[in-house]
Amino acid sequence: MPPTSAATLSAAAPRFQSALLAWYRTHARSLPWREAPSLYKTVVSEFMLQQTQVKTALPYFARWLDALPNFAAVAAAPEARILKLWEGLGYYTRARNLHRLSTAVAALPAPPRTPEAWRELPGVGPYTAAAITSISFGAPAACVDGNVVRILARLTADGTTHRDSASAAKVFTPLAESLLNRTHPGDHNQAMMELGATVCFRQKPLCLTCPVRTFCAAAKTGEPEAFPNLAPKQMEQRAVTRLWCERDGALLLHRAAATARRFANVHELPTPEQIGLSEAAAAKQPLLAKKRRGITRFQITESIHRAAAATAKHAGGAELVWVPLAQLDDVTLSGPHRRWVREILAGRAGQE
Ligand code: ADE
Repeated sequence: MPPTSAATLSAAAPRFQSALLAWYRTHARSLPWREAPSLYKTVVSEFMLQQTQVKTALPYFARWLDALPNFAAVAAAPEARILKLWEGLGYYTRARNLHRLSTAVAALPAPPRTPEAWRELPGVGPYTAAAITSISFGAPAACVDGNVVRILARLTADGTTHRDSASAAKVFTPLAESLLNRTHPGDHNQAMMELGATVCFRQKPLCLTCPVRTFCAAAKTGEPEAFPNLAPKQMEQRAVTRLWCERDGALLLHRAAATARRFANVHELPTPEQIGLSEAAAAKQPLLAKKRRGITRFQITESIHRAAAATAKHAGGAELVWVPLAQLDDVTLSGPHRRWVREILAGRAGQE
């Protein structure tokens, strides 16, 4: 980042903070974790928002708070309930970490109050630790995620090529710290998030209504979208075969082991290997659907083939379960598999 821009901006920190905070106080969206805020609501919202947009998280947040109103309730809930409440949000490790974190917090005489102590807990990285402690305890810690990187890169018209958003976040942390409003760190951090979510868009940012436009070097270049300069993501292509295997009104699903790192206890359509079938034999079965999805750096194409129940003769391992079609809603499926199963069943109903 051009050192002069960063230094100039840091020198203007008090004026920057006032402009940002005044805007936030009048323009903040009213969000359920901001109304009658509590540490618990803040923690749940921060976990949900780690990889999910606010509008997607809202109904999940409401259901979660109804079902599990505090850390003790989460700690006492069986994992299947936790996963069911999380179903469709994806990145299930977050749910399991929130479960483990709640167990740890519920067992303490009082929750920790510093970012360093929160970072010891499962699923809490630098961003989440800063968000939780600044919002709940007024800790002077700056939040830096992709949205904040975008704002800071634009404020300083930083042309450096960054490998990815995480490495850019490290580079921008000192600037974020120097801009932090130490009297109101929680509101300052939320104001930065709000600016990223509602004004400083990746594409077509609303510079004309931006409360910190006068501090922004990128706005002056007329090409704010050129910042940040992130190296293009290297996507890896993956092909996966899945089988649709039905018997007596039940569908065969694979349930990832409780100890699996990702997707523990989450159900998906099985792969040929999981039911003891070769890839070649599976590929010869009639193709029902071909689906694409992106997850982190993988572009995955999943081909779903219909397999006769007899083909799955090896089925019966602990991780393979026949789920009656009428009870599919009772088990946790991964988001894409839930969608595909519904589509396939709906398509078939249409043909009948
Ligand atoms: N993204 C991450 N944390 C957030 C919060 N507290 N409010 C809005 N968006 C967020």
